Amino acid sequence: MDGKAVAAQVTEALKARAASLAAAGTHPHLAVILVGDDPASHIYVRNKEKGCQDVGMRSTVMRLPADTDQATLEYRVRALNDDASVHGILVQLPLPAHLDEQAVLALLHPDKDVDGLHVANAGRLLAGIPGPRPCTPQGCMALLDYYGIPIAGKEAVVIGRSNLVGKPMAALLMHANATVTLCHSRTQDLAAHARRADILVVAVGKPRWITGDMVKPGAAVLDVGINRVDGKVVGDVDFESAARVAGYITPVPGGVGKMTIAMLLRNTLDAAERAAGA
Ligand code: GUN
Repeated sequence: MDGKAVAAQVTEALKARAASLAAAGTHPHLAVILVGDDPASHIYVRNKEKGCQDVGMRSTVMRLPADTDQATLEYRVRALNDDASVHGILVQLPLPAHLDEQAVLALLHPDKDVDGLHVANAGRLLAGIPGPRPCTPQGCMALLDYYGIPIAGKEAVVIGRSNLVGKPMAALLMHANATVTLCHSRTQDLAAHARRADILVVAVGKPRWITGDMVKPGAAVLDVGINRVDGKVVGDVDFESAARVAGYITPVPGGVGKMTIAMLLRNTLDAAERAAGA
């Protein structure tokens, strides 16, 4: 599955929406808060900025030092909530360990929460009520949709139970009528679960961890991992062995990551259109 190509199609459609909104006086605007010096986070944020630029959206990145305290960070979030020119706010995760991530996310105005991570939006997702959905799971669903991969009645196995990917991914697949199994670090016989999957989503952060022998022939494999090994970026799936068995598979890079950014831009545009009453 070519995430780069599908993402390019999605963003192409967003350009027209961004332009017509701007012509009507609302310039869609994403604000990103980045705390600390994590090199990977800095790269991700730069890609988000570039994505905004590509579709004609405004972006502001607030880079804060690693020793920023909780009160300062919360003050910044409140200021962005109150800034009517900002339609989407993203707090890049993970935050440095001394900061309370949940407390920061809880402060975001739910309407500006383009990551879909505020508890109100997480609740909307579980309840099946419209709202911003987390970008990576949404990107995975968009890929399945683009390639016409059937979901209803299929066995979907999600490996990883994070708030950012695993849990919302399982919820989206469930709403699309898959039979969902959510595996995690304490799962016994992970390989047996993985081998049953018609749709296998892997988000564990362990390089090349899922090998071809753990993949059902013909399965759709979505690799959410981004790991650096000897200066090379690899996924959580051993692409070479898995690709020989899978019917569909996402490469890393060029797979799910590109879709995440496309969905972030779409969520921001949705928020801007709602703010403008469009
Ligand atoms: N860190 C890695 N991926 C993401 C993401 O999609 N959103 C945020 N906020 N932080 C991330």
